[in-house]
Amino acid sequence: MQVAMQVGFYGHVRQYRNIQAEIDANIRRVLESGEYVQGPMLKQFEQELAAFHGTSHAIGVGNGTDAIWLASMAMGIGPGDEVITHPNTFFATAEAIWVAGATAVFVDCDPKTKCIDPALIEAAITPRTKAIIPVHLYGQCADMPAIRRIADRHKLRVIEDNAQAIDAAGDGFRIGELSDATSISFIIQKNLGTFGDGGALVTNDAGIDAQVRKLRNHGSTKRNVHSFGFNSRLDDLHAGVLSAKLRHIHDWNDQRIQRAARYTAGLAGATQIELPFVRPGYRHVFHLYVVETKNPAHRDGLVDFLVANGVDAKTHYSIAIHKQEGYPWGKGARIVGPVDNAERNAASCVSLPMYPELTEAEVDYVVAKVLEWERTVR
Ligand SMILES: Cc1ncc(COP(=O)(O)O)c(C=O)c1O
Repeated sequence: MQVAMQVGFYGHVRQYRNIQAEIDANIRRVLESGEYVQGPMLKQFEQELAAFHGTSHAIGVGNGTDAIWLASMAMGIGPGDEVITHPNTFFATAEAIWVAGATAVFVDCDPKTKCIDPALIEAAITPRTKAIIPVHLYGQCADMPAIRRIADRHKLRVIEDNAQAIDAAGDGFRIGELSDATSISFIIQKNLGTFGDGGALVTNDAGIDAQVRKLRNHGSTKRNVHSFGFNSRLDDLHAGVLSAKLRHIHDWNDQRIQRAARYTAGLAGATQIELPFVRPGYRHVFHLYVVETKNPAHRDGLVDFLVANGVDAKTHYSIAIHKQEGYPWGKGARIVGPVDNAERNAASCVSLPMYPELTEAEVDYVVAKVLEWERTVR
């Protein structure tokens, strides 16, 4: 079918072209330094990332999944322990709990924000519970003050899974402020993405910092001296790309927020879909702009209609973790209470294209196509 416009889901190449000189200069610096692993560029980026978050430490690791399980291991979480999260997140949140050897405990999400519902956490706590992992889903912070209060009451650790919301903030709190450690993913499609995989942990806990630094490098901080560990490092080339991009992340997120506002204004009259909810006082950085079809049975039809019209719509995440085939693969897992909101989110979510370089004309085209689809719905 001939379509009027093609709207891609990602703008990686547009972004590269916009700041090519800065990225290329950093890549050249790394190449000419002769130090590519745990070299000066990684050190520089770690300092910049810690300063950006206002935390005392930042540790570059191989990816955002490793950041979660490395933090868990550094906290001594392992077999026999339980970690609470919610099932409508990317698979890696639970996967990291399993890699650490712990049991993943799922509670439902909030029906509006889709982040973990703090009101359901306490019912899931047992003597084995060691930590809570809230996910800042789609770019909006979970209710960290409520989660911190529960963690303090029960002496639990908190790891923020911040793969999706770098530079977001809550009402009166920053990311990294109310947790023991915060994981970040730099895979290319994230708001701050490198050309491949990468991740980091930020923390104010010197013990976690020291442990993760060791664990990521074969249990070593000194040549030829090792303890049990892994190889999970952020390469200097990626650190160089990320250092160049970090300077722009706040502006880029502002642009995402503008594109989101344009979608929301354009779709205000829509009757068949729910629009994203932004908590008052929160800075939602719209990693994803996710609408939900009011009737889950209509979801696939909307995605198909958009794709047929040149709009690369996707779903995040259309199968909740506990509904994946083979769950839980012999790993420890428990679901506490109904998880209807998470299941509904999985069944009805549609992500519209969202990136800072998206043009207003592209947003308007997507809006027009969603409204055109609405007129076909019976
Ligand atoms: C919520 C969430 N957690 C964890 C991850 C894992 O990050 P990575 O792909 O860098 O391992 C991702 C993204 O991929 C994610 O979206």
